[in-house]
Amino acid sequence: MTEAALTVTPLTHSIGAEVSGVDLAAGPDPAVVKEIVDLFHQHQVLFFRDQELDDVSHRDFAKNFGPLQHFAFLPPVSEDVPEVHAIDIDGAKPKTANADIWHSDATFLAAPPLGSMLRSVILPDTGGDTLWASMYAAYDALSSRVQRLIEGMTAIHDSSNSTSHAKKTANADYDPVAHPVVRTHPVTGRKALFVNKTFTTRLVDVTDRENEILLPMLTDHVRSPDFQVRFRWTPGSVVLWDNRCTQHYAVADYSGRRRMHRVVIDGDVPA
Ligand code: SIN
Repeated sequence: MTEAALTVTPLTHSIGAEVSGVDLAAGPDPAVVKEIVDLFHQHQVLFFRDQELDDVSHRDFAKNFGPLQHFAFLPPVSEDVPEVHAIDIDGAKPKTANADIWHSDATFLAAPPLGSMLRSVILPDTGGDTLWASMYAAYDALSSRVQRLIEGMTAIHDSSNSTSHAKKTANADYDPVAHPVVRTHPVTGRKALFVNKTFTTRLVDVTDRENEILLPMLTDHVRSPDFQVRFRWTPGSVVLWDNRCTQHYAVADYSGRRRMHRVVIDGDVPA
């Protein structure tokens, strides 16, 4: 496969591109991998269709983006591939994963994940789409006055704010952490709004009253469709997203089974 074989179709002005002309399971050559990594930084979320990954090739392709986590909050699909875990939901039951709240993954960690690679394994007949939002676009859309107000501000992120994570982290050492409200992406240098409804509990060094008004304003800002892309999963779909500058939302509107396999890439301390 040569670099020229890739076809890239941006899905919105601010976030997301569909990439075709590559067989991820085959282990693309280094030039193609480099192009995909560059596209990842440019578009923040990459969508691939009709792929034939198994857990091993899924893990192996994700390694191109950095060391992988043994994600502590969901069990691995097998001992042989401990980096891959399943998000398996019976849509007939009440959904308790909290993925239908806008979030970046595990921002309660001192070094939240760089990104994730998710593939569809079992899909409901209808529904179960996922949306991503560009937190670069969200930051850019704030007035310069509000941008100045939040520059240098930090916020507390706490796993116990999420009912699904609180149970899993209750007996572990996950003290709340402070992260910058405006994060500078270590590769692109772009600024992203880095607060989310699931884990961010408190702006630091503001009064309670200011926090009550300002934090929801910042966490709800992600809701604008102007920053979003919505993906309809099909068999063989694979999505790679940058957790440092995006949030996502899994729509909980289905009644069948939905099983996804995911690999999480290690991140660094936000700055
Ligand atoms: C997640 O929140 O990481 C899962 C997204 C999805 O299941 O679509």
